[in-house]
Amino acid sequence: MESNGKKQIVMSGIRSTGFLHLGNYFGAIRNYVRMQDEYQCFFMVADLHALTTHPDTKDLKANVHRVLAENIASGLDPEKVALYCQSHVPETSELYLYLNMLAYKGELEKTSTFKDKARQHPQKVNAGLLTYPTLMTADIILHRAQFVPVGKDQEQHLEMARNFVNRFNHRYGEIFPEPYAFNFGEDLAKVPALDGSGKMSKSENQYSTLYLSDEDDLIRKKIKKAKTDQLPEQPGSPKSEAISNLFQLLELVSDASVVKKFDDQYNNLTIRYGDLKEQLAEDMVKFISPIRQKAKDIYNDEDYLKQVMARGAAKARDSAQSTMELVRRAMGLDYF
Ligand code: TRP
Repeated sequence: MESNGKKQIVMSGIRSTGFLHLGNYFGAIRNYVRMQDEYQCFFMVADLHALTTHPDTKDLKANVHRVLAENIASGLDPEKVALYCQSHVPETSELYLYLNMLAYKGELEKTSTFKDKARQHPQKVNAGLLTYPTLMTADIILHRAQFVPVGKDQEQHLEMARNFVNRFNHRYGEIFPEPYAFNFGEDLAKVPALDGSGKMSKSENQYSTLYLSDEDDLIRKKIKKAKTDQLPEQPGSPKSEAISNLFQLLELVSDASVVKKFDDQYNNLTIRYGDLKEQLAEDMVKFISPIRQKAKDIYNDEDYLKQVMARGAAKARDSAQSTMELVRRAMGLDYF
């Protein structure tokens, strides 16, 4: 993992809108936690990106604090990584401005996330929304990061980031490495939704998603309502999507012996889905409840959160400032 004795650089951004759910935990955060020892990690709460769609800032502070608290409670260690807020690193905005001079209106308009948002809210298409990909590129290359742990939905943004990097390097000199999506080991775990199809996500039906902030009773209620199916007709019949989803969830939070027990029962036709859901609910509560509790304690400790943000910003600015010196020199903006 190391070249020249220096750790390779990982950077990722976490949106400050929405509550973290089980899909975020197994898909993203658990991956970050595994990276924090082997890589130099920069994890940032994207509060400036939030302004592209949420110009009303009354909930911003609470959202940023909550996202930080939930990430720390899930295992991110602010001692090991730089955990910071995008707006606390003003170098981001400077690099964003330079990158905007290299980005073409046409390519920005072709971005799928932009097209979706412009279609949904045609009267709210601001220039910040259009330049979302240049801001995201600035976040990443400010630390000259090569590895960006993100899901498939961010692939197009990364491809654009590589284009901007190449354009910059070509015009002003080789400063930036090309950033690539990167995930630890195997494919990211997909966490199925409780309504029988698709995966857990922020925007979908809230009842089909388990949030790290859900209270025990709500977790039980959601799992009780989860979609099941008819019992298998003969030994060894394949599992329907709804049933296989329940098994997948069981695999994430229950002991292997428990999974095996229900799998055997499924195969010899003695399974009762009510029992399976009850077990799943209890194991899920055991899993989520300590994270929720810890996140709550951290959230309520504003002094600690301020310390975390200050330390994170200091680490991020240190790295950002050395990049920006190179950038200004390369661009010929070092004449004062
Ligand atoms: N666009 C990312 C998302 O929607 C969030 C993000 C902002 C990000 N800046 C980033 C991700 C930099 C990776 C690197 O989830």
